[in-house]
Amino acid sequence: MPNEETFRPSDASAITRRYLDSILLEMRIINAVTPSISFDLFGKTFDTPIMMPAFSHLHLFVKEREDGMGEYFRAAKALNAVNFVGMTTLEEYDRLAAIGATTVRIVKPYADKDQIFARFEQAEKTGALAVGMDIDHIFGRNGSPDTVHGNLLAPQSTADLKEYVRSTKLPFVAKGVLSVRDAVQCVEAGVQAIFLSHHHGRVPFAIPPLMILPEIRKAVGNSIRIFVDCSISTGADVLKALALGADAASPGRALMEPLRKDGQAGVENYIRGMNDQLSMLIAYTGCKTLSDLEPSILWINGKPAEP
Ligand SMILES: Cc1cc2nc3c(=O)[nH]c(=O)nc-3n(C[C@H](O)[C@H](O)[C@H](O)COP(=O)(O)O)c2cc1C
Repeated sequence: MPNEETFRPSDASAITRRYLDSILLEMRIINAVTPSISFDLFGKTFDTPIMMPAFSHLHLFVKEREDGMGEYFRAAKALNAVNFVGMTTLEEYDRLAAIGATTVRIVKPYADKDQIFARFEQAEKTGALAVGMDIDHIFGRNGSPDTVHGNLLAPQSTADLKEYVRSTKLPFVAKGVLSVRDAVQCVEAGVQAIFLSHHHGRVPFAIPPLMILPEIRKAVGNSIRIFVDCSISTGADVLKALALGADAASPGRALMEPLRKDGQAGVENYIRGMNDQLSMLIAYTGCKTLSDLEPSILWINGKPAEP
């Protein structure tokens, strides 16, 4: 019998990868043209709907790079891509913000709300594009609130989300939504965007974000923007996400090896490769812009995906 180490049927990242690979593309080549992948978000225009991941503490994971955080911020700026960042101290964020990437700052759901508001305020002052919270990182492995680098986290209510939305002039992004129920709560709280994610498999057997994306899009309509991550590593993955109703998507750990090997240049080249594949596949599926992408260019379970 395979054990948990060699065969983990519960691994949401592997389940998600399998689901992404099970989605096929329908070619629509007659009258096709070279497409544009220009992307608008919160009043700004970007060169791609591929966004940088909400990373943190890269010095612990990519030890070969002294300033991995700074290198991917610089790559985001050079690529004119939306940049995300995860857990950061006030000092680290000041340094990173000075790089000038257009950044969405994701803040942990700290039990101490002063830490949350201080980070939102700093993001506003340093010209962030938006703020948000990874509402999926709350519980540890025993179901009690987790502690991260000495900081206790806390469950978040709809009222908390409303308070955050009211507290900042910036758009608010809820990261870690993976049910219609939570998506509807987010709309009720007034958030401007939700990020469908299981945070690289925090939850065993979590639904692949693309599997639930069409239901969520149907439930929230066009009232909010929807982003997707988890196991995204190619332009084809991004095309699938966009065709199923996402506005944008992020690779995550797929960027760590290029970062380790070639730093900023590695990240830039990797995203440029994804952009190229996305452009090629938009053309081959008979679309011209991101807004032309629609479910029926995808085949799932042997038939066109439902709108
Ligand atoms: C080193 C590392 C640090 C991360 N830190 C954060 C964080 O502070 N906040 C957050 O919302 N997500 C964080 N994430 C999760 C990513 O933003 C993203 O949701 C996840 O990596 C996507 O899954 P994938 O890596 O399988 O593509 C982190 C991921 C990694 C690998």
